[in-house]
Amino acid sequence: MRVILPMPGNEAMAAALARRLDAELGVLDWRRFPDCEAYVRIASAVRAKRVYIVCTLANPDPQILTLVFAAAAARECGAEGVYLIAPYLAYMRQDKRFKPGEVVSARHFARLISQNFDALVTIDPHLHRICGLETIFSIPTHVGAAAPLLGAWIAQNLDAALIIGPDQESAQWAQEVAKSAGAPHVVANKLRSGDEKVRVELPDLAAWSERQPVLIDDIVSSGRTMIEASRALAARGMAKPYCLAIHAVFAPGAFDRLAETSERVVTTDTIAHPSNAISVVDMLARLIAS
Ligand code: R5P
Repeated sequence: MRVILPMPGNEAMAAALARRLDAELGVLDWRRFPDCEAYVRIASAVRAKRVYIVCTLANPDPQILTLVFAAAAARECGAEGVYLIAPYLAYMRQDKRFKPGEVVSARHFARLISQNFDALVTIDPHLHRICGLETIFSIPTHVGAAAPLLGAWIAQNLDAALIIGPDQESAQWAQEVAKSAGAPHVVANKLRSGDEKVRVELPDLAAWSERQPVLIDDIVSSGRTMIEASRALAARGMAKPYCLAIHAVFAPGAFDRLAETSERVVTTDTIAHPSNAISVVDMLARLIAS
């Protein structure tokens, strides 16, 4: 028997997964003590059941300890196994020591998750210099790829799209999305000199000038990558782009700034956000059931 247990803020995704899997929807009793420490109690019977804790990991720091406590509580209540469903997996971009003394967060975050869960299910982790989750996680990992869903959305909603990856890291997603959408694709070059300091250099787009530009990325965080790519497109006389991203991380103010430079912003529901228009629920349910 499966119990799908939502961490705070993940109730809608957990309920959708429970319906899709015909599983029990569990209840986590959670609050903060007056001193801000966390109180956690599993308020559902989980003995001898498999517990799937749903917790998307955007803004991870305020919730990670509560998540670890919830996993521990489920185990202490006799769960047969405790699994993490993290539609968005945090800290994967800090995958290299660029300066002496920097922590390679991806490895330590992976170790923390591996110590507390029996398996991980996620969608499109940001894998760039780390080639696979199995190289940093010591538990089984099950990964879904949302590119075909983005491609299907484009095929259904846009005519004559041109898929543009704003940087080399996005090339893997841009290529897959283009294949599913049946559209051509190009990849730009990004120079990042700070969190908010980004320059995007587009390739020659003369052959595609009549097409609808569609920027594709795995994550929008500060929004700078997509905003600067949109500006570069405007400078070439191209139409305002559709901006499609898998994970709507959106730092404060980022969505509003990006909305100004784009025709529309579309994301998947790995992180709940008003721009969500593509659902990964079926994909997650298949991964859980497999
Ligand atoms: C990094 O390589 C990722 O693929 C994204 O391009 C990046 O995280 C976007 O960040 P921001 O929205 O802050 O430019």
